[in-house]
Amino acid sequence: MSAATPPTGPLRHFLQLRDFSADEINYVIERARLIKDKFKRYQPHHTLHDRTLAMVFEKASTRTRVSFEAGTYQLGGSVINLTTAGSQLGRSEPIEDTARVISRMVDLVMIRTFEQTRIERFAAHSRVPIINGLTNEFHPCQILADILTFVEHRGSIQGKVVAWIGDANNMSYTWLQAAELLGFTLHVSGPQGYRLDPARTGTPAASVLREFADPREACAGADLVTTDVWTSMGFEDENEVRRRAFADWCVDAEMMSGANPDAIFMHCLPAHRGEEVMGEVIDGPQSVVWDEAENRLHVQKALMEFLLLGRLG
Ligand code: CP
Repeated sequence: MSAATPPTGPLRHFLQLRDFSADEINYVIERARLIKDKFKRYQPHHTLHDRTLAMVFEKASTRTRVSFEAGTYQLGGSVINLTTAGSQLGRSEPIEDTARVISRMVDLVMIRTFEQTRIERFAAHSRVPIINGLTNEFHPCQILADILTFVEHRGSIQGKVVAWIGDANNMSYTWLQAAELLGFTLHVSGPQGYRLDPARTGTPAASVLREFADPREACAGADLVTTDVWTSMGFEDENEVRRRAFADWCVDAEMMSGANPDAIFMHCLPAHRGEEVMGEVIDGPQSVVWDEAENRLHVQKALMEFLLLGRLG
């Protein structure tokens, strides 16, 4: 077993970014940098020896699956992978009963599912920490990786401008939580009908959120330009309508030219070149998308450590 002292406080989950304080997010980012540095130097880092992660996928994944699975093994732990179709979840076992059972057998659970209420119900009946691996409403692990990537390339994100171009999806709402917590300004631009819902955002200060009808105006002066697919998982029936609605929200070289000269581009992937982003941008010199994808591995190792062992070092 790890020599580290487990946290003595109440059970912690990571269901959305604001479940953590700014100080805790900054700790996880710094810890991820240390873990990444050791990984690059082939130094063993087995803080989760004898621990088991269960992953529950109710939607498809490449990056989340590989990063959590590889990361847990690299920390000395084990992984169990469940899907809806391959488990009793697909045969209507209540999520509460699934949570009660799984959490008696493993140390940590990562879930990718549909409604945020579903992961909240799971967490309410779990004995172990639950991590949101994406819901319709939030994608907090991705934003941790994005912040780590920004910090690596440009230093602190505090006081910077992040431009979100496209759909008001789980990523955009999580970026908004990050802006509120970490003190940067989020510019958002999307077509009518696909914009942030004031019922969810409240009324953030202009120093936190500014919305623009024109995506070029949203990119102006940005330190980071980022986007995502026009149709997120679970909304495939709307694909054709969305293609027409989002036609002017494709991040291209012209949009990037309005951003700061040293602006970087991120995309959580998978990407559709020629739709939400042009190849000239995602494959161009300002793109950091491969570092961003890799950083899922490092930041989630730090996240799992933090939830199970608290602050280390
Ligand atoms: N960005 C992301 O979550 O990728 P996957 O859907 O492949 O896990």
